[in-house]
Amino acid sequence: MKQNKYDDSTFFEKYSNMERSKKGLEAAGEWHELKKMLPDFKGKRVLDLGCGFGWHCRFAVENGAKSAVGVDISQKMLNEAANKTESEYIRYICMPIEDIDFAGNSFDVVISSLALHYVQSFEDISAKVNKCLTSGGEFVFSVEHPIFTAQGKQDWYYDKQGNRLHWPVDQYFTEGSRKADFLGEEVIKYHKTLTTYLNGLIQAGFEITGIVEPKPAEHLLYSVPGMADELRRPMMLLISAVKKR
Ligand SMILES: C[S@@+](CC[C@H](N)C(=O)[O-])C[C@H]1O[C@@H](n2cnc3c(N)ncnc32)[C@H](O)[C@@H]1O
Repeated sequence: MKQNKYDDSTFFEKYSNMERSKKGLEAAGEWHELKKMLPDFKGKRVLDLGCGFGWHCRFAVENGAKSAVGVDISQKMLNEAANKTESEYIRYICMPIEDIDFAGNSFDVVISSLALHYVQSFEDISAKVNKCLTSGGEFVFSVEHPIFTAQGKQDWYYDKQGNRLHWPVDQYFTEGSRKADFLGEEVIKYHKTLTTYLNGLIQAGFEITGIVEPKPAEHLLYSVPGMADELRRPMMLLISAVKKR
């Protein structure tokens, strides 16, 4: 069952108030690593799965992409994306990622930032992405790290004084839905193992070209409250892959 949490007014309001929602890519803790994995966009046709406010679509076009298509399940997110977008080369489509059915050779680059942990089957998405990419096309994405999604609630264990003791990892090999606490709201996410992500790509016909478990950018470590704890366990997994010729 696909949840559309970002269209919930309370959740949308809270998400909109996050630093990365207000300030964009430079305020995103993983951007300094993700941007190094992105290809040269010049002349490329780009698809962004779970595009949200459209930051990555605009980045692609500002850096030479011929076109960018952003797909998202949330009309509220896409309304804000449209408000922030002036380029005529960017198009937004309100649709679940699970339902994409683009023809073969439609895109040169597919990106997805922090959206695929909302999707149950990584195998299905990998196959669809592979199909719509041109030969040699690139797939670059970030997801919440399996260590972060495994236990479910996504919170630390605390002592009686409220100090963070450790991050719980449990039910690692039991894939599937989890009720996470995100911004004080219950959000459904899907835990997958590292094996599922890597083999999903290989079996779909990709060659993996890069894997990064990003640490926060230095300048955010001391300016954003709680950011230093991000050095205690990985929160995100970034992967780049190329469609085999
Ligand atoms: C954490 S936000 C990331 C937004 C954007 N990619 C970014 O990095 O700024 C996750 C986005 O994924 C979208 N999303 C979640 N589940 C989805 C699904 N099944 N199909 C399409 N979009 C989905 C949400 O609506 C939301 O805009």
